[in-house]
Amino acid sequence: MKVSVIGAAGGIGQALALLLKNNLPAGTDLALYDIAPVTPGVAADLSHIPTNVSIKGFSGEDPTPALEGADVVLISAGVARKPGMDRSDLFNINAGIVKSLAEKIAKVCPTACIGIITNPVNTTVAIAADVLKKEGVYDKRKLFGVTTLDLIRSEAFVAELKGKDPLTMDVPVIGGHSGVTILPLLSQVEGVEFSHEEVVALTDRIQNAGTEVVEAKAGGGSATLSMGQAACRFGISLVKALQGESNVVECAYVEGNGKHARFFAQPVLLGKDGVEQILDYGPLSEFEKSALDGMLETLVGDIKIGEEFVK
Ligand code: APR
Repeated sequence: MKVSVIGAAGGIGQALALLLKNNLPAGTDLALYDIAPVTPGVAADLSHIPTNVSIKGFSGEDPTPALEGADVVLISAGVARKPGMDRSDLFNINAGIVKSLAEKIAKVCPTACIGIITNPVNTTVAIAADVLKKEGVYDKRKLFGVTTLDLIRSEAFVAELKGKDPLTMDVPVIGGHSGVTILPLLSQVEGVEFSHEEVVALTDRIQNAGTEVVEAKAGGGSATLSMGQAACRFGISLVKALQGESNVVECAYVEGNGKHARFFAQPVLLGKDGVEQILDYGPLSEFEKSALDGMLETLVGDIKIGEEFVK
């Protein structure tokens, strides 16, 4: 297996690379790419950690050497949020970056699974899909918006609120990856009861957790370490499933059956070719049903912006 991290010199990319170097299955090759000239140095630094994951770093204008033979490509290249910005403010720069990277992937490693971290994910995934489609290589089983940060935040916040062990928490999160499109299914958390007020407050906290970090970092960036952890969890699940491990389930933003929107974050069973099966997200509470209805216009609009951009 070869895993490529694109945007690897950035805040998310470096955290992700460190975690992957330590946690990928033995024998995996890790390739780092970023336009920043420091990237081979980041790889040299990580290569001194004694694990059975080999690592190479590439910089410059052309990501080809990092993409050659890749099975999984995780993309966090782009600009990050500053206070006062929401994820859609990143659109203009990041859309162009994701478009050109998807064009490269289509040529160099068209069968790789792609995990998009670059925001706004609701839109950048649609861009990648339509670029790959234009190039004739789109396989919807292999393109993912990485929403795992919403899951780990939910796990952490529920455990904190209810005094539970965070390591045993499991909170499905559906919809998209910004603001009201993030819908944690708190009604499905086992062994925990919430009052209506708690559900309202916790849902709001999870939806706006990114802003909590942006403001706390006071102009120094957005979530990088927790996002690195989240993308590492997702990347490792993907690698394990590609290698044949069974029962690997993650929530991710994928093109599914189109019931709510063309792309929708939901639980998926991962397999040797990416998404093996879209899983039912189960029964929703009245609060969750109305939150789902309320988000769809935003989500569909976000997707349309990506589709129009590629057109
Ligand atoms: N190809 C490769 N790398 C690129 C490119 C490109 N075309 N354009 C920018 N980069 C690199 C930058 O050089 C930088 O190292 O992407 C990296 C981004 O790192 P940071 O600015 O530290 O941003 P980070 O916090 O990692 O977030 C990156 O992920 O979640 C999203 O909203 C976040 O869209 C943002 C992205």
